[in-house]
Amino acid sequence: MARLLGPEHTRDAEAAAIVSVTGARRVPAYRSLADRVRLLVLEGRVPVAARLPAERELAAALGVSRTTVAAAYEALRQEGFLESRRGSGSWTAMPAGSPLPTRGLDPLPPEVARSVIDLGCAALPAPEPWLTRAMRGALEELPPYARTHGDYPAGLPALRQALADRYTARGIPTMPEQIMVTTGAMGAVAAICRLFVRHGERVAVESPSYTNVLQLLRDAGTRLVPVAMGPGLAGWDLPAWRQTLREAAPRVAYVVADFHNPTGSLATDEQRRQLVDAARSAGTVLVVDETMAELRLDDEVEPPRPVAALDPGGSAVVTVGSASKSFWAGLRIGWVRAAPDIIRSLVAGRAYADMGTPVVEQLAVGWLLATGGWDEAVELRRAQARENRDELVAAVRRHLPDWEFAVPHGGLTLWTRTGGLSGSRIAETGERLGVRVPSGPRFGVDGAFEGYVRLPFTVAGAVAEKAATRLAAAADLVASGAVVEAQVPRSYVA
Ligand SMILES: Cc1ncc(COP(=O)(O)O)c(C=O)c1O
Repeated sequence: MARLLGPEHTRDAEAAAIVSVTGARRVPAYRSLADRVRLLVLEGRVPVAARLPAERELAAALGVSRTTVAAAYEALRQEGFLESRRGSGSWTAMPAGSPLPTRGLDPLPPEVARSVIDLGCAALPAPEPWLTRAMRGALEELPPYARTHGDYPAGLPALRQALADRYTARGIPTMPEQIMVTTGAMGAVAAICRLFVRHGERVAVESPSYTNVLQLLRDAGTRLVPVAMGPGLAGWDLPAWRQTLREAAPRVAYVVADFHNPTGSLATDEQRRQLVDAARSAGTVLVVDETMAELRLDDEVEPPRPVAALDPGGSAVVTVGSASKSFWAGLRIGWVRAAPDIIRSLVAGRAYADMGTPVVEQLAVGWLLATGGWDEAVELRRAQARENRDELVAAVRRHLPDWEFAVPHGGLTLWTRTGGLSGSRIAETGERLGVRVPSGPRFGVDGAFEGYVRLPFTVAGAVAEKAATRLAAAADLVASGAVVEAQVPRSYVA
C-alpha cells in the first residue's frame, strides 16, 4: 500500500510530501521499460504519434521477453502515453489534458513554477535595466525602418556593420558583407545546414553536444558522426578528430569550442589550430558555435583566439554567434560570420525559410552595441552566472558527494556523472519530486551518456540548495529501486 515517504528516505521533507512509494521494492522490468518510454515522450525525444515497434520486434531488440514488452505497453496505454489499434500497431500519445512536450523549453507556468525547480534550460532572465533601455532605444530608431516594407533577409545594414566591427575589434578584420543576422544561433545553424548538407550526408559532432543542434541535424536527415570529448575539461581529442575527418570526410563539422554545452570545456589555441587544419585537409566546413563565448566566468583564464582568426576569409570556418547567452534569449537574435559568397547563398535561401529577423529586436541589439550597454550587460551576466555556478557546485558537493564533475571556467552548464546511477531515471524521478533536469542521453548520439545529467547555472542560494536536496532524494530513490507514484499534476510538462 502506498505510504508517504519520511525525510529519512528522501532527505527533503518537501519532496516527501509530494511523493509516495509502493514499498521499497525493485522496479519490475516492464515498469522500467515503460518509464523509459514515458520519459522519452515527455522530453520530446520521441515525438507524439510516433509508431512504436511491434511487441515481438522490441522484445528481440532489447533481449527481454515479449511478456515484459506487452506489460510495458499496457502500462503506457493506461497512463495515456500509448494508443493502440488492433491491426494498426501502437503509437505514442500524451495523456488527455497535458500540453504537448516542447523538449522542456517553455518556461513553467507561474502556478507550477512555485513548486517545480526548472533546471531544463541553460538561459538566464533578461539583464535589466538593459533590456528595457535597449527596447526604448530601438523604438526611437524605428521610424525610418517603419517606412520600408521591413524585410531585411541579411539583417539591418547597421547591425551587420556593428557585428562586423566587433569581430574586427577582436582581431579578425570583417566586412558587413560577411555577416548575416539570423533568428538566434539555431536559425543560423539551420540556415547553414540547409545550404551545406544534403539528406544522408555526414556531419561530425562532438559527443556529447548541444542537444537542439543534434536534433536539428537529425531532423534534416543528416548522419551524425560523433567524436568523443576527452575526460574532464580536456575536450577535443585531436587524433580522433583527424581520423574521423579523414575517414568519414563529413561535409560539415559542428563544434562549440568556447565553453562547450554541456561540458563547459574551452578549446586551447593549439586544439583550435589543429581542428582547423584537419577540417581544411578533409574539405570539411567547420561550423563554430560561439553562443557561450562571452560567458567567461574566471578572469584568470585567458580567452583563446576566436577560431575564425585561423580563417579570417571565412570559407573554411563558418562562425555562429548569438545574443541569447550574452544578453537574452528572448530577443532571438543570432548571426553567421562567413565569406561573402557563403553569406549571399545563405541569404538567398532565406526567402523560403523565415524571410528575416524582427526589426525592433535587431535595433535593440544595435543600440546595445553602439552605446556600450552590451558590454555592461555581459558583465552583469558573468557575475550572475559565476555566483550561480559557485553556489550550485557547493550545493551539489554537499548533497551528492559521489557525483563527479569538472567545474568549467565559463558557460552555463555543469556536466555531471550521477554516481553510477541512470541519469534518465534520476530525471524521471526528479520531475516527480519537483526538480526538472535533462538527462545525459539528450546530449549524446544514439543514447550515449546514460550516467550523466546536465545542471545549468540558473539558480543560486536557497533554490540551488533545494534543487540539490531534491536531486539527492531522486538519487536515493533510484538507488533503492523504489517505485515512485506521482502526486503532482503532470501539467507542468511543457
Ligand atoms: C551552444 C549553443 N548553441 C545554440 C544555442 C541556442 O541559441 P539561440 O537561443 O541563439 O538559438 C544554445 C543555447 O543553449 C547553445 O548552448
